[in-house]
Parts: sequence; structure tokens; C-alpha cells
Amino acid sequence: MRSLKEVLSIAKTSKVAIGHFNISDSTQFNAIVSAANEVDVPVLIGVSEGEKKFIGIQNAAALVRTAVDSGQEVYLNLDHGHSVTDCKDAIDAGFDSVMFDGSKLSFKENINKTKEVVEYARASGREVLVEGELGYIGSSSKMLDAVPEEVESAMTTVEQAREFVETTGVDILAPSVGNIHGMLKSSGNPKLDIERITQIRDALPDDIFMVLHGGSGISDSNFTESIEAGINIVHINTEIRRAYREGIESALKNDAEQIAPYKYINKGRDAVRAVVSARLKLFIKK
Ligand code: G3H
Ligand code: ZN
Repeated sequence: MRSLKEVLSIAKTSKVAIGHFNISDSTQFNAIVSAANEVDVPVLIGVSEGEKKFIGIQNAAALVRTAVDSGQEVYLNLDHGHSVTDCKDAIDAGFDSVMFDGSKLSFKENINKTKEVVEYARASGREVLVEGELGYIGSSSKMLDAVPEEVESAMTTVEQAREFVETTGVDILAPSVGNIHGMLKSSGNPKLDIERITQIRDALPDDIFMVLHGGSGISDSNFTESIEAGINIVHINTEIRRAYREGIESALKNDAEQIAPYKYINKGRDAVRAVVSARLKLFIKK
């Protein structure tokens, strides 16, 4: 199987993006892998802190291992690791990539801790990619009443991006470019700053990848523009969380007496698969 780095390098050259989707359980995992299969693309599975605690780090790794053994190009990422220890545990558990989220730390502290994760990854003897986050994009994959206040003032600058990447040695940068975690209840999410994505991309070395967090609620055309401008990975979580819940809710509404999990959770699975499939098709659209 190709390494994640190879897959990302090809995506970068072809100006398409790899989809990253979060899971809390094996049903969501199966839905995502089945959609990736249908679209015939590699896919990244993410577990953030709460998700990792719920599913179990070893279970997440085992799901991916089993899929890989059956020939699927599936990669596992620790999403928003808030401590160096979390990232080290994920590296030890066989994850393909880890993200150290130091976005709430000072610039200097963020650099120091991210660097520590990079050093650990390099010493692992495996090719584990490390992602760092710079700037603030809000914190939860949930339905939002308004854009979090600090977001606009905490967008990533070209200078910071360049210094951060050079000093930490990360492989992947997650910038703040108008993106936010979560989805606005009453409208689509704000537009991305495409100009900023282009400028940051141009300032970074060629072998560095850029990831767009907070993909839920972004319009199709804005996605396409951001990928054209240099985004290589797109994270989606809120959209699939919502689809999962709505699928299960509507199944139970239609069959209120049903108690066999596989007769209502399957509707959540199908709803997740539909969202993931649509997004994956968009990310490779030319
Ligand atoms: O890391 C996870 C993503 O950034 C998800 O963001 O919930 O807004 O899609 P989202
Ligand atoms: Zn994120």
C-alpha cells in the first residue's frame, strides 16, 4: 500500500484533496470506508480526544488495520491531540499521522511542543506524519448559533506559517483561513479567505501539505477554490455527526417499537455514507 505521504504528494500534484472524516464507532467507520470504496479514493479516518476515548485507541487502530489488510487505502490520524503524550500514544499505537493542536498556546509554546512531537515521530522508525495548527478556528464539531468571536482576529499570517513550519519540521500545516469548526444553524459557514490560502501555500516549502479543518457547512464552490489554491486534506465532522443522528432518529420515528440496533443504526450508517460519498466526489472534481 502507498504511504500517506505518497498519497498526499500525488493529491498535491493533481490538485485534488484527500477527505478526512471523524469516527466515534465502527458503524461510522464502515460507512466512510464504503463511500471511499465507491468513489475509489484513499481516505483518512480521524479520532479526536472524545472520539478516541469512546472508541478506544487500539480499537480504532485495529479497524484500520483490518481494512488495510483487505486492500483498502485507509489511513488513521490522531485529530486535535492536545498533549504531547496523546500524540506519542497514537504514534506507538500505529497511527499514520498525528496532529498536535497547540492553537490555544502561545506561538512559542506551540512551536516547542509541536517540535517535541515531530522528534518523537521521526524516532519511531515508521513514516508518521505530523500536523501542527496555527491560528484559532473554534473548538467543537457542533451546530453553532454564531461564528466564535476570536476566529477573525486569529487568522494565520504568512510570516507565522513560514516560521512555524521551518522551526517545528511539521509535514502538514492546519491554518486559520476563515474556516471554523462546526456549522452555523441558520446559514452556510463564512467564506474562506482564498487569497490567504494561496499566499501561505506560496510561502511554504514544496513538500509541506496544507489541511483545511472545519469543512462542514462550506459551499461546494468554496471547497473547489480552496483545493485549487493549495489545500490537500479536508476535515469533515459536524456534517457526518448530524447525518448519523438524523438517520437513526428518522428510523426510530418510522418504527418506534424497533429494538434491533442493526435495524435503526443502519439508517445512520447510510446517511453518513451519502454525505461522505458526496464530499469525496467533490474533492476530486476538476
Ligand atoms: O478536525 C475536525 C474537523 O476540523 C471537523 O470540522 O466539524 O466543522 O466539519 P467540522
Ligand atoms: Zn479540526
